Amino acid sequence: MRIHCRFGLLNGWAWFNRWAFFVNQPLVRSIREIVAFVLLITFSVSLFAASPAVVRGSKGVVASRSALASEVGVEIMKAGGNAFDAAVAVGFALAVTYPSAGNLGGGGFMLGYTEKGQKFALDFREKAPALAHKDMFLDESGEVVSGLSTKSHLAVGVPGSVAGLLAVLEKYGSLSPQQVIAPAIALAEQGFALNYDIARQFEKKLPAMAHYPASVEKFSNKGESYQAGEIWKQPYLAKTLKRIADQGVAGFYQGPTADLLVAEMQRGGGIISKQDLRDYEVVWRSPIEGEYRGYQLLGMPPPSSGGVLVQQILNAIEPYDVRGMKWGSAELIHLMVEAQRRAFADRAEHLGDADFYPVPVQRLIAKSYARKRFTDFDPQKASDSEVISPGKTAPQESVETTHYSVMDHFGNAVSVTTTLNLGYGNKVVVEGAGFLLNNEMDDFSAKPGTPNAYGLLGSEANAIKAGKRMLSSMSPTIVIKEGKPYLVTGSPGGSTIINTTLQVLVNVIDHQMPLNDAVALPRFHHQWKPNQIKFERYGISVDAQRKLRAMKHQELIQLGGTMGDANSVMNSEGVLMGMSDPRNQGGAAAY
Ligand code: DON
Repeated sequence: MRIHCRFGLLNGWAWFNRWAFFVNQPLVRSIREIVAFVLLITFSVSLFAASPAVVRGSKGVVASRSALASEVGVEIMKAGGNAFDAAVAVGFALAVTYPSAGNLGGGGFMLGYTEKGQKFALDFREKAPALAHKDMFLDESGEVVSGLSTKSHLAVGVPGSVAGLLAVLEKYGSLSPQQVIAPAIALAEQGFALNYDIARQFEKKLPAMAHYPASVEKFSNKGESYQAGEIWKQPYLAKTLKRIADQGVAGFYQGPTADLLVAEMQRGGGIISKQDLRDYEVVWRSPIEGEYRGYQLLGMPPPSSGGVLVQQILNAIEPYDVRGMKWGSAELIHLMVEAQRRAFADRAEHLGDADFYPVPVQRLIAKSYARKRFTDFDPQKASDSEVISPGKTAPQESVETTHYSVMDHFGNAVSVTTTLNLGYGNKVVVEGAGFLLNNEMDDFSAKPGTPNAYGLLGSEANAIKAGKRMLSSMSPTIVIKEGKPYLVTGSPGGSTIINTTLQVLVNVIDHQMPLNDAVALPRFHHQWKPNQIKFERYGISVDAQRKLRAMKHQELIQLGGTMGDANSVMNSEGVLMGMSDPRNQGGAAAY
């Protein structure tokens, strides 16, 4: 059953929303909450529905990791909002319906392209608190203390999501915070039926939350695991969302929410202060602008490495006949892996928060640089990444970050990746405020040469410093074709984000695949160090594996799990198509 045709009953709600757009009185608001409840009951009916197929519409489309959140976005557009209003509403809804990565206590990046052709990159990445310092995760002998940057209150960066979503609403949206947050409040307050996917996630994460009573209270049914089909309510989160709806940024960064967050810090030995929260600011940045085979590409600049690396890898492979090599051939995998290897080596050396360190962005994304960097490419033979440093573990595939994509018929396009870093962040729910905290501090390089949770290495460019933003791999991307948004994509997956995004782009642009195949087909990943090609099941044929080994690619690792979650949307000659990644139980919606 397609999600976009399951909500015929909701026309009344959409009509109501349009009306409330003009009359946003308290009475109207309470009636809206009742209507939202009806809407939730309808949502519950869709408990086991996932949407592996492309959805189509002509007015608006959303693809995300949560069918409920995608539907919220479409309803907002039906109620008169544009793609930016929808993206903000989806962001808040994901904080309720997809708590592993949708968040209030984390951060992210948004790329936007407006109907007037304006382009922006909004950085709402977490920041290191004022008391953070370079060696904060090292012991007295200078060694990294295991788990400190991921499983403690010190792991938390100052959250940016609320400031980010509200900033874009103010600048590019047309609705009020109350209007776009109302669906999230209703979902938190009235609850929704957990699907199997989310109920399983809770069950798996509960042991790691055992030390934190507020986390256990939120994610279990009085200590017992939730089962699929049970209604899950989040009363404290609903209250926090209401404070944000009523007071805007101050509803999170000041007053009771800030008090609760700082009290949580003090309880657990964290260092985020009220001043850190007050001082948090989003940064409007210029997107990385590149070009690939005549398509214009917008990517996220530092503190993400995503935009730079995707462009670098595309530059490296552009001179080759990618389409002619054929999808899945050893020849093409080799070409792409060698491009990935070189780009990730550059990442470790050159990338960090450009506000604190001189990142040579323009040099790295220049076509001439790619040509020079690729002169030692041998089409017959793998090059050699140096011997791996300690912690040579494969990045664990997991569900911690989330990407969603939105387009409307006005010509607006929004690409958002948001995260708590590892699954359910540091597992700490702020007592009384109902939201999880991130463990984004692990994305800094705690010590040069010591890999982080994704096996990524870093240097001075990504060292910890007060107020600095940690380097990211998140790669929200917008492709422009003949002056109009054509494809919006991106993914979670730590270091694999870059290569997942890259493969969706190459599948669409080079292989000319339809969106569903471009998103669904298996992926592979190389990140320079460790010197391994990781691939999804069925991702590299036995024949191609044999050929790659003959080229001296020694370690080919088939993943037990999947790679990425590239919820993408496309405008194909006026048809708005949405595809939620079939690897997971997300959903797309369109109208
Ligand atoms: O910003 C980054 O690169 C990481 N914090 C992203 C984490 C992530 O994608 C985890 N998801 N699977």
